[in-house]
Amino acid sequence: MSPEQLKSLVRTIPDFPKSGIQFRDITTLIGHGEGFRASVDWLSAEVSRAPVDAIAGMEARGFIFGAAVAAALGKPFIPIRKPGKLPIKTIGVDYALEYGSDRLEMDPEAIGDGCHVAIVDDLLATGGTACAATELLRKAGARVQTASFIIDLPDLGGARKLRDCSVEVTSLMQFEGD
Ligand code: PRP
Ligand code: MG
Repeated sequence: MSPEQLKSLVRTIPDFPKSGIQFRDITTLIGHGEGFRASVDWLSAEVSRAPVDAIAGMEARGFIFGAAVAAALGKPFIPIRKPGKLPIKTIGVDYALEYGSDRLEMDPEAIGDGCHVAIVDDLLATGGTACAATELLRKAGARVQTASFIIDLPDLGGARKLRDCSVEVTSLMQFEGD
């Protein structure tokens, strides 16, 4: 499937979660078998352009794509979790949201020192989530040089923010100007 066909499978919900926001919903993309497979194939190819020992994905939507890519490549999957979910002593990183803050946590033993870990998520907006995941993975000893997304919203500046953290960004499709 072409990138244009895949883009047409993403549903846009106006005014969600609040007025003026166009919510890009991947439910319809993953609900289309060929579309889901083509998206995972694209991510797998992107991730494989550099040395990679493991794939990390952020809860929740990053699990859908990240785990599929890891399984397709036969690589370990590292879940980056929302707080309080892992039954062990975790390491974590707090990060700012538009209103308030959030936190990501992971198993500190999940990665061998110096392993190359590629980040995968469904969507890049402000970059807050992906930058926090980068910081967290590096805290655990990983080398993080790439992050791949299905959707980028370039108007929100996430790619620039990630590049400032020395992370190369790729995205299958972009929505801008609205
Ligand atoms: C969404 C999306 C990305 C993040 C991008 O996750 O899945 O992970 O926001 O935004 P940012 O670049 O501004 O950080 P969210 O936590 O809202 O929902 P989810 O649990 O459904 O993945
Ligand atoms: Mg998410």
